[in-house]
Amino acid sequence: MADLRINLAGIKSPNPFWLASAPPTNSGYQVQRAFEAGWGGAVWKTLGDPILNVSSRFAAVSFNGQRVAGFNNIELITDRPLEVNLKEIYETKKRFPDHAIIASLMVEPKQEKWHEIVKRVEDTGVDGLELNFGCPHGMAERGMGSASGQVPELVERQTYWVKEAAKTPVIVKLTPNITDITSTAEAAVKGGADAVSMINTINSLAGVDIDTWNTIPHVGGKGAHGGYCGPAVKPIALHMVGECARNPRIPIPISGIGGISNWQNAVEFMLMGATGVQVCTAAMHHGFRIVEDMIEGLNNYLDDKGISSVMDIVGKSVPKYSDWGNLDLNYNITARINQDVCIECNKCYIACEDTSHQCIDRLVDSNGVSFLKVREEDCVGCNLCSIVCPVDGAIDMVEVPNDLPPMTWNERQAALGLLNGTAEKVVKS
Ligand SMILES: Cc1cc2nc3c(=O)[nH]c(=O)nc-3n(C[C@H](O)[C@H](O)[C@H](O)COP(=O)(O)O)c2cc1C
Repeated sequence: MADLRINLAGIKSPNPFWLASAPPTNSGYQVQRAFEAGWGGAVWKTLGDPILNVSSRFAAVSFNGQRVAGFNNIELITDRPLEVNLKEIYETKKRFPDHAIIASLMVEPKQEKWHEIVKRVEDTGVDGLELNFGCPHGMAERGMGSASGQVPELVERQTYWVKEAAKTPVIVKLTPNITDITSTAEAAVKGGADAVSMINTINSLAGVDIDTWNTIPHVGGKGAHGGYCGPAVKPIALHMVGECARNPRIPIPISGIGGISNWQNAVEFMLMGATGVQVCTAAMHHGFRIVEDMIEGLNNYLDDKGISSVMDIVGKSVPKYSDWGNLDLNYNITARINQDVCIECNKCYIACEDTSHQCIDRLVDSNGVSFLKVREEDCVGCNLCSIVCPVDGAIDMVEVPNDLPPMTWNERQAALGLLNGTAEKVVKS
């Protein structure tokens, strides 16, 4: 059995699976049951000055039969008194000393407020702090959450204030509602953060009821934008993790969050640079027990690959993630239809004919049997046919070897003397 233990900026946990700060980590009862089920850590539901939550606060986007493909909420931070949460954190840490408990915090952007809450929370024995600069709704109107998290200077300053008072590692949780997440991640680094976590939820409106014209969800006929999460956001989160992981100015560990629903997703995030993952929607959809499959799947994966520690996979895909300008323009693939498997549904033909490069022919052989064939010389290797094909193995995308040496756009521009050229220079040429 591989070693699943992780160490994220000094925070240790028996496995990389943490519950994210959200309804599943709202109380000691829940977090203790989660640890019994196998979760390695939990980021407590965000603490701060208790607020009022509205009734009717979640909505899901189901797509083509998959329930909860995306999840939307207008819930704010904890609505339980701070003392109650602190007492339960203390009790939970006492009962589970080897599990990671991280307190998520959100207060007004004032130095004394941060100092005060850090001290009170650390007295419970938590393993670390996570600063919630991410919630996109409700708190933003009060200068908190993503209102702070979208401004690098505020991220840096508040992280600095927390670091002035904190004795435990500080994780800065970033909002995806920003053009370039590396700018706020870099600000967190400058403020002294020990790690960053991403992503919080994405600004969203789940839907509109076309009969009543109300938003979904609505509170007595009125709606407000919420935060989107769940499987639909995974590619966005993975990209943001990758962007931070490959940025030398962000040399601190990353806790990956966003749409992680199974062990494979967790492995993807870890390969792309996360030192562990946090899960919310999948646990809300299926319950705490999903972690059993996650642990078993991860164990088997590592054993099959002969990897002894899960920490050894962290970042292994990062060198493979680059800018478009570094991709080889001479690499070529083509679609190849496997006649034994193809059911001739014509999905690939229509996709290619209507919306791609018109390189699939409908042919008839000498016995009068029809079949589909790719004109490989015209295929650009876009993958669309294999994406729309409903039958596994019916279309392979295969490399077409050629004699051309690898040549990236950047190399090509350098050869033309345009690498440092501006767009203007390129246009002129
Ligand atoms: C109902 C709900 C409440 C949430 N509350 C918080 C919160 O209090 N603090 C926080 O940092 N993130 C909060 N989140 C965001 C999650 O921690 C997480 O970043 C996000 O849901 C993405 O992960 P997922 O795709 O696994 O759900 C909340 C998410 C949901 C769905």
